[in-house]
Amino acid sequence: MPHESKPRLYATCDIGREALDRLRQSGYPVDVHPQPEAPPHEEILRQVRSGIIGLITTLRDPIDAEILKAGAGSLWVVAQDAVGLDNIDLDAATRFGIPVVHTPEVLTDATAEFALFLLGAVSRKIMASERLVRQGGWKLWHPYLPFLGDEVSGKTVGIVGLGRIGKSFALKCSGLGVDLVTHTRSPDLDFAESLQEIFELHGAIDFVQRRQTFSYVGLEECLRRADYLSLHVPLTEETRHLIDALALSRMKATAYLINTARGAVVDEQALCGALKEERIAGAALDVFSQEPLPQDSPLRDPSLEDRLLLTHHLGSGTYETRLSADAQRGMAGRCVQGVLDVLEGSWEQRWRYVANREALKRRRT
Ligand code: GLV
Repeated sequence: MPHESKPRLYATCDIGREALDRLRQSGYPVDVHPQPEAPPHEEILRQVRSGIIGLITTLRDPIDAEILKAGAGSLWVVAQDAVGLDNIDLDAATRFGIPVVHTPEVLTDATAEFALFLLGAVSRKIMASERLVRQGGWKLWHPYLPFLGDEVSGKTVGIVGLGRIGKSFALKCSGLGVDLVTHTRSPDLDFAESLQEIFELHGAIDFVQRRQTFSYVGLEECLRRADYLSLHVPLTEETRHLIDALALSRMKATAYLINTARGAVVDEQALCGALKEERIAGAALDVFSQEPLPQDSPLRDPSLEDRLLLTHHLGSGTYETRLSADAQRGMAGRCVQGVLDVLEGSWEQRWRYVANREALKRRRT
């Protein structure tokens, strides 16, 4: 039976037809920005001013105070199809009483496994080897020519940021017999204990010859000890350029950097310098301070091609994780569920995916 028509929502992007249809089936008309490119700021503002009650966004849309102010009193929810919220002025959203929902948890495994695969690919030079074979440069079988890679098993993996994704990455890495040095603001002792138990088991079944270790350390020690350093922090004022020239100078010359978090956590100029001067062995970047990566970015320097792996913000990019309409499985499903929860859920459901709960409290009063 068709529902009576409810107020309209606007999505800055097609986040997945099946998920958006869940809103339509609940009676909410949803307009979707028709081009694959992001709408201009003016268009988002125009939509908000036109009285939409829900705004569905992605990480490429700067949702600033101007947009949020325009939505005060009419916009009931901003729903970000991502876990990271650095493109949204959350304080302004709270000030104007607009709850912001996002998609934690459902992308944890996809992103963590991608970080691990990047780590392996850059260390074992898989892309360089692929290019070699494809371009006809593989002329002979030889024990060490034309090049070898670095083995990951048994090395030390440093993790900066031990939230959901960092923890999942740690668990996935543990199967490679590595030691883990982690830097986080809030050490989780239960998690450390669980990893110790896993390591004990690895020893008991002779999976590793020596006991693997897990430790919480300061950033400096993490940088100094890591053979691989993987970043899993959100972008905040505190983490912007966390990996700068000084941090890079503290890393081993044989170490690799992996970034699947946010581009601006790394000073890209400083990274280029460190790679060119061979002060670190290599890097794999899935995220950039400007996306898509500009044509004139120094990261595109062909001389870095074999040691610097670049991907197109693909960490959470699986069919299941990006598109599933199931709120327990995919970002699109969870994003839409967040909207429905805020608009129609029980008081308890409303909280579930809200990042600025203060705004919701204000809304109630
Ligand atoms: C992806 O980068 C996300 O924040 O969801």
